[in-house]
Amino acid sequence: MSFVFPVVFGHRGAKAVEIENTIEAFRYACQSGVRWVELDAMLSKDKQPVVFHDETLDRLSGVHARLDQLTLKELKEVSLINDRRIPTLDEVLDCLNGYDGGVNIEIKPSCRQAERETAQKVWQVVRQKGFDDPKRVFFSSFAWDSLEEIGKIAPHIKRGLLLEDLRPDWRFFARKIQAYSINCDARLLTVSLINEIKKAGYRLMAYTVNDPAQAVYLYRHGVDGFFCDDPVSMIEVLKNVQRL
Ligand code: G3P
Ligand code: MG
Repeated sequence: MSFVFPVVFGHRGAKAVEIENTIEAFRYACQSGVRWVELDAMLSKDKQPVVFHDETLDRLSGVHARLDQLTLKELKEVSLINDRRIPTLDEVLDCLNGYDGGVNIEIKPSCRQAERETAQKVWQVVRQKGFDDPKRVFFSSFAWDSLEEIGKIAPHIKRGLLLEDLRPDWRFFARKIQAYSINCDARLLTVSLINEIKKAGYRLMAYTVNDPAQAVYLYRHGVDGFFCDDPVSMIEVLKNVQRL
C-alpha cells in the first residue's frame, strides 16, 4: 500500500455503526472497504496500551473508575455496551493486519504525566506488530509532549497536530515538530483558516464530520480529509465532489 492520505478515516473504527474503538468496529470498517481508521491509545495502570477514548469507564460501561487505575487484566473483565470488550492496541493492529488496513493512532495520555510514556509504549507495540511503516500508520495527539516524543523516537512516521482550540502558539509548535498535518475540530474551520493551513504546506484533516453538507463544503474549500463516525456513507458522499 502506498501512502495515499485518505479522504475518510473511520473515526474510532466506525463509531456510528459499532461500539467505538472495539475490534468489532475496526473489523466492520475494514470489511466495508474503509482502508484507514482512527483509534485512541491510552495506557492501563500496568502501562499496557489499550484502545479507548475516555479517561473514565463510565460512559461505555457504567463502571465508575479511571481507565489508568485498572490493570490490563482488570480492564479485560469490564463489559462495555453490547458486551463489547476493551481491546489492546496489539489486538487491534492484529485485526488491521488481517485486512492490510492503515491506522491513525491518536496518542491519548490519560494525564499530563503520562504524555511521553504513552508515546513510548505505543511505539513499542507498533514496532512489534510490524506497523512501523509510514505507509500504514501515522500519529496524532492533542498532547504536545506525546508528539514531541514520538517525533524523536520515530521521525520517519508522519505526525498530525490535533487542535481543539486556536491557542496562539499552535503554528510555532506545528513547525517545531515538523507536523505533516493539522487535524482540526471542524467547528473551528473558516475559509481563511483553511487557506492559511494549506498555504503553510500542511495537510488538513477535520474531525468529527458526520454532516454530508458540511463535509462537501469543507472538501470544496480545501480540507483534505475527515474523521467520520459512519465512514462508509461519507466515502459515498465525497466520491464525486470536486474542489472549488
Ligand atoms: O483524531 C480525531 C479525533 O478522534 C479527535 O478527537 O476526542 O474524538 O479523540 P477525539
Ligand atoms: Mg480520537
